[in-house]
Amino acid sequence: MSTIILAIESSCDDCSAAIIKDGVILSNVTNTQEVHRNYGGVVPELAARNHDQYILPIVDTALKQAGVDKSQLKALAVTRGPGLLGSLIVGVSFVKGLASSLNIPIIEVNHMQAHVLAQFATPPVPSFPFLCLTVSGGHTQIVKVDNFLEMEVIGSTLDDAAGEAFDKTGKMLGLPYPAGPIIDKKAQLGQVKYEFPIPKIPGLNFSFSGVKTAIRYFLRDQTKENPRFIEENINDICASVQSHLVSILLSKIKRAARELNINTIALAGGVSANSELRKRFKAEGDKRNWECFIPEFQYCTDNAGMIAVVAHHKFLKGEFSDQSIAPAARMHF
Ligand code: KG4
Ligand code: ZN
Repeated sequence: MSTIILAIESSCDDCSAAIIKDGVILSNVTNTQEVHRNYGGVVPELAARNHDQYILPIVDTALKQAGVDKSQLKALAVTRGPGLLGSLIVGVSFVKGLASSLNIPIIEVNHMQAHVLAQFATPPVPSFPFLCLTVSGGHTQIVKVDNFLEMEVIGSTLDDAAGEAFDKTGKMLGLPYPAGPIIDKKAQLGQVKYEFPIPKIPGLNFSFSGVKTAIRYFLRDQTKENPRFIEENINDICASVQSHLVSILLSKIKRAARELNINTIALAGGVSANSELRKRFKAEGDKRNWECFIPEFQYCTDNAGMIAVVAHHKFLKGEFSDQSIAPAARMHF
């Protein structure tokens, strides 16, 4: 008999539902909230209300697209954390209610573990062990992955995440949130002309707050001399900032690959959509004989498909939770 699971993701500003059948994703439906565009970042209260409004139609659409009736579901999976508490509560409460009415178990999923297992959403898939650089709006991690549910964070950011560095730079440049994709587009029209300091962080950890401050002072000094500096040089500024951030990310993953002697390397998270990161990651891979993996775009940004992949493996191992689960804003694995 086949195993069909409905998975829900509501940790930040994407409300998503997916159906997985015997490890194959049948549908992955995501609504990215637009309400935060003019605020320079996600407004937690607005995000929670928006999830509340969208969760039911999103689940309905995911079931319809998969051609599945809820009576066929064997379990319900949900992101328990990390994320925004108000947003997580919406997903967790929804799943608790539906699980009790259908009398099926709940599977709790760690959002960061799910970003890593997004590699298995569609083929080709990496072999174990591999290293995964997860770069999103909230997190920057290097993860050593030994098996589907056995993984270890070996490097992470001490302050801002990589996506946050893109988004906060965008805010300084007057761009709407999320600025990452806009910086990416503008960078393609510009040239790397300005340099910023490389943070001296030991080991495999990252730091982006110093870079952010350096960019702030750079823009302040330049606009003092020429008030139209940003307008006149926006593409070159974007190209320079983007190239700098990508260099920081690649230098640490190169170091991790060397130190651990692992040549299967994956990218995950929203920032892995960045064209410069993808291009230079693949070029490094060619140079160093890495096997490189980047999930399809719909599985890079927050989505329930990746939650469903983790749920599938937890189901196989019988790892279930009960009605007592509570969302966790902070969560490690
Ligand atoms: O994984 P994700 O959807 O959500 C979080 O878990 O945070 O990542 C969103 C982040 C945002 O910071 C956004 O600016 C960034 O990914 N992002 C990009 C690009 N597309 C999305 N950053 C740089 N270049 C892109 N093309
Ligand atoms: Zn995420």
